[in-house]
Amino acid sequence: MILEIVEYGHPALRAKGRKIEKIDHDLLQLISDMLETMYEADGVGLAAQQVGRPIQLCIIDVDGVTDRPSTMWIDGKKVDLSEEMPMVLINPELELIGKPKAGVEGCLSFPGLRADVERPPRVKVRAIDAEGQPLVFEADGLLARAVQHEYDHLQGVLFIDRLSAKEEQKLDAEYRKYIVRP
Ligand code: NI
Repeated sequence: MILEIVEYGHPALRAKGRKIEKIDHDLLQLISDMLETMYEADGVGLAAQQVGRPIQLCIIDVDGVTDRPSTMWIDGKKVDLSEEMPMVLINPELELIGKPKAGVEGCLSFPGLRADVERPPRVKVRAIDAEGQPLVFEADGLLARAVQHEYDHLQGVLFIDRLSAKEEQKLDAEYRKYIVRP
């Protein structure tokens, strides 16, 4: 089922996600609906907050994005990205690696808005997957950026909160009033 994606100004986007204790039928149905919703909206990531459910769950699929490549490592070995996508991250924790670099981002909750955001280029992730198994990996490129963007959603943080002063200047007042300084 395609879910409604809530947009900027909606209180669910500012809610910190509750930790998930149990993977039950309802959660698996939500994951399936979120995947359908993300693909229909042509997005590379979606957090539960964006469908009005503040819990520690996000999904990502960067497979097929050729102009912004990603690399993923498990146990220090490079893995085939296609085999790992789509990715379901439950209760994720991040370790950020490297000096922040600017890169363009959009968000399904901000239709049409694109802005440069500085983020560390590499990330180490610890999460639980949809089968309840531990998922530990490192990523760079678009995947590292997408993971950080979605992780932020789970904390109630939005990409407009992370703009440089210069990028913020370019933003319409319509969006600027929703900025919360992290
Ligand atoms: Ni987003």
